[in-house]
Amino acid sequence: MWRITSPWAFLLLNLLLFRALAEAESSNVPMDKAEQEALYAVIQDLVGKWWNGSDLYPDPCGWTQIQGVSCDLFDGLWYVTSLNIGPILGNSLECSSDAKFNPQLFQLKHLKSLSIFDCFSSHQQQLTIPPSNWERLASTLESLELRSNRGLTGNIPPNLGQLSNLNSLVLVGNSLSGELPMELANLVNLKRLMLSVNKFSGQVPSALFANMAHLLILDLSSNHLTGSLPASLCNLSSLLKLDLSNNQFQGSLPAELGKWTQLTLLDLRNNSLSGAMPKLGSLRDLLLAYNPWGGNLLELEWGDLQNLSTLDLSHMGLTGAIPKAITDLKILRYVAFDGNQLSGTVSSKFADLPSLTTLYLNDNNLSGKLQFPRGFYERMGKRFASWNNPNLCYSAITSGDVPRGVARCKQDQDHSTEEFKSNQGVDEGSFDEHSGLMAPLIMTPAASASALWWAIVLIMML
Ligand SMILES: *[C@@H]1O[C@H](CO)[C@@H](O)[C@H](O)[C@H]1NC(C)=O
Ligand SMILES: *[C@@H]1O[C@H](CO)[C@@H](O)[C@H](O)[C@H]1NC(C)=O
Ligand SMILES: *[C@@H]1O[C@H](CO)[C@@H](O)[C@H](O)[C@H]1NC(C)=O
Ligand SMILES: *[C@@H]1O[C@H](CO)[C@@H](O)[C@H](O)[C@H]1NC(C)=O
Ligand SMILES: *[C@@H]1O[C@H](CO)[C@@H](O)[C@H](O)[C@H]1NC(C)=O
Repeated sequence: MWRITSPWAFLLLNLLLFRALAEAESSNVPMDKAEQEALYAVIQDLVGKWWNGSDLYPDPCGWTQIQGVSCDLFDGLWYVTSLNIGPILGNSLECSSDAKFNPQLFQLKHLKSLSIFDCFSSHQQQLTIPPSNWERLASTLESLELRSNRGLTGNIPPNLGQLSNLNSLVLVGNSLSGELPMELANLVNLKRLMLSVNKFSGQVPSALFANMAHLLILDLSSNHLTGSLPASLCNLSSLLKLDLSNNQFQGSLPAELGKWTQLTLLDLRNNSLSGAMPKLGSLRDLLLAYNPWGGNLLELEWGDLQNLSTLDLSHMGLTGAIPKAITDLKILRYVAFDGNQLSGTVSSKFADLPSLTTLYLNDNNLSGKLQFPRGFYERMGKRFASWNNPNLCYSAITSGDVPRGVARCKQDQDHSTEEFKSNQGVDEGSFDEHSGLMAPLIMTPAASASALWWAIVLIMML
């Protein structure tokens, strides 16, 4: 009698049996014929004439699945629900150099998700987003993602506004241009709207976001958008992340920001914005650098921003002192105040912030004595900068690292140079007390050891 001796063999047998059954079952379920033809035509127009679907994948939702294609059953027939083209996953379909949209795309009755990545390249003929027929996908399409397609040009067709079930619209890193169409305002179910790194220009329609109550992420960064910030931004009561950086937006933030109670990231860097600083207790990342903002940091109640981790306020024309309250924000990690006209002293309490890795204070008018404890400059390395503050100096009681480009304080000099001479026997000539930039050139023990080594080498060569 035939016996199964190994439990592994038993397992294998079961597995084979199960697979055979599963395959038999799925090949019994047919695919809608029109759907199958449409799928083949759409993929062939993207990946190239060599790709013959009926030859390669006779049962595309069953036993010969196509990479990047998912299907589901509707009324006993297979339909495509998700189509991903481009090298996202290791084994997905790659586009040919003459890739184009086939109009049969709009015949895929149950398409929920369409993603085309790194496909239309700029060297070939330029392509636009199909201008019509999107309404045929309106009841099903939830996610449309066209990313890193440098050859994809033209406007966002107003017809895209028909996709009322869309919850994610991602058109990032293409060459799209023109104004954002008002029709996008119909996409009231959007959770994610990302249009960054394109060539969009002009003003954003002021009511564009009036009804996008579910929007979590809005990214319009790195375009050429102008004019004032759209008033309807205030309506986005669910917003978590807002990135409008690298545009030419002007004016101030909308006055009514009370609804942004969830906002964790606000990135408005590199625009022409000014006005009042936003007070939003939920913020973790506040990035306003490179704006002609102006004003005084003391005017904001920093104590309300306890969740703040990243604070980039460089190159904003800020005046006044660095508020003491900022050093009480316990989870601060990155702080940049460089390139302003800040005055007053620098609190040594920055050194007590446990997560602080970066502190840029350079190019201001800060004054007084830097009194950070021993080891602070070593810990921070190049991520501490305080040069170009003519009236700032450091207190050098330590022989460790010193702040780059900052002079040693006058009242400390006599005492510490004495100490230095007697301890190290270093020639005082290498230290120029009038030039802050020379300070790091003081010979460290390591440097003098290597000088000694070179001297020995030289003597031996003679
Ligand atoms: C695919 O190949 C079959 C023959 O195997 C041929 O009849 C059919 O026309 C081809 N289809 C395409 C779209 O090239
Ligand atoms: C949206 O914001 C506008 C101002 O831009 C305001 O008039 C309108 O009432 C807001 N709508 C909702 C639903 O909050
Ligand atoms: C600011 O944005 C422009 C494009 O709008 C870009 O060319 C420039 O490099 C950016 N500047 C900085 C400092 O990021
Ligand atoms: C700060 O962050 C914590 C943890 O993420 C969160 O529970 C809290 O609500 C935040 N505070 C504010 C004011 O949003
Ligand atoms: C810089 O600060 C000093 C006080 O430390 C002040 O006298 C001077 O006017 C300031 N310079 C500028 C350009 O703001």
